[in-house]
Amino acid sequence: MSLKNKTAIITGAGKGIGRAIAISLAKEGVHVGLVARTAADLESLGQFITEQYGVKAITAIADISVQSEAEAAFAAINQKLGAIDILINNAGIAQFGNLLEMEPEQWKRIVDVNLMGTYHMLRTVLPGMIERSKGDVINISSTAGERGFATGSAYNASKFAVMGLTEAVLQEVRKHNIRITALTPSTVNTDLAVNAGLKIGEEDRMMQPEDVAELALAALKLPPRVFVKTAGIWTTNPQ
Ligand SMILES: NC(=O)c1ccc[n+]([C@@H]2O[C@H](COP(=O)([O-])OP(=O)(O)OC[C@H]3O[C@@H](n4cnc5c(N)ncnc54)[C@H](OP(=O)(O)O)[C@@H]3O)[C@@H](O)[C@H]2O)c1
Repeated sequence: MSLKNKTAIITGAGKGIGRAIAISLAKEGVHVGLVARTAADLESLGQFITEQYGVKAITAIADISVQSEAEAAFAAINQKLGAIDILINNAGIAQFGNLLEMEPEQWKRIVDVNLMGTYHMLRTVLPGMIERSKGDVINISSTAGERGFATGSAYNASKFAVMGLTEAVLQEVRKHNIRITALTPSTVNTDLAVNAGLKIGEEDRMMQPEDVAELALAALKLPPRVFVKTAGIWTTNPQ
């Protein structure tokens, strides 16, 4: 199915997986709305996308953990791109530490961005999709949304929650011809992984953001009557 001239909002588009998904959508002729907190990242990506692929690229600075900022970002993009066909809920943060060692504020921040940010974007974008009886949402969860590990309590809780949120909302909106897919990648070579100290020195053998983008694209290109509910993607053997 062609994605040409569709519109998409990608959160966390400034770097890593979100950036790769934004580029792969633009390559397909999708007009993109790019959301993150760092203006410089979004501006350089927006310029690259319009020059390279000739589609519209609108940037909106927002901390998606704040509902009013998520709403303002949507409004700004909606005004310039029109109705939104695709929402990529990708923005996320990771910090690891034992439950008793992490500060409560640090723990809560992870849930606020990864879960509440996804919720805020869904709450903002879904009404238009329901009204038009079509839409695609991809929630970037993680293998950490399927299996817990020591030091992962905040990240695991946030990503398990994204899986539950995906499953529940899917039941509500499928009748409106809206698809929601949760992708669960294992470690991907991005700043998030490297800053968290994951697989340092193994970056070349790790999955790359473009690999996740290919899976997202494949899910979006399926005929509207079918959808991927959950899809894992691993560099190493799944444990
Ligand atoms: N890398 C991995 O190994 C891996 C594996 C599985 C799943 N994931 C998930 O994949 C997603 C993307 O991760 P990544 O590895 O690509 O991370 P990344 O390279 O650190 O990029 C994250 C992006 O999200 C943005 N962001 C962070 N907090 C935000 C907020 N409050 N509001 C708006 N934007 C925000 C960041 O920009 P600003 O800081 O400028 O806002 C950045 O553009 C996350 O949900 C992550 O949990 C990652």
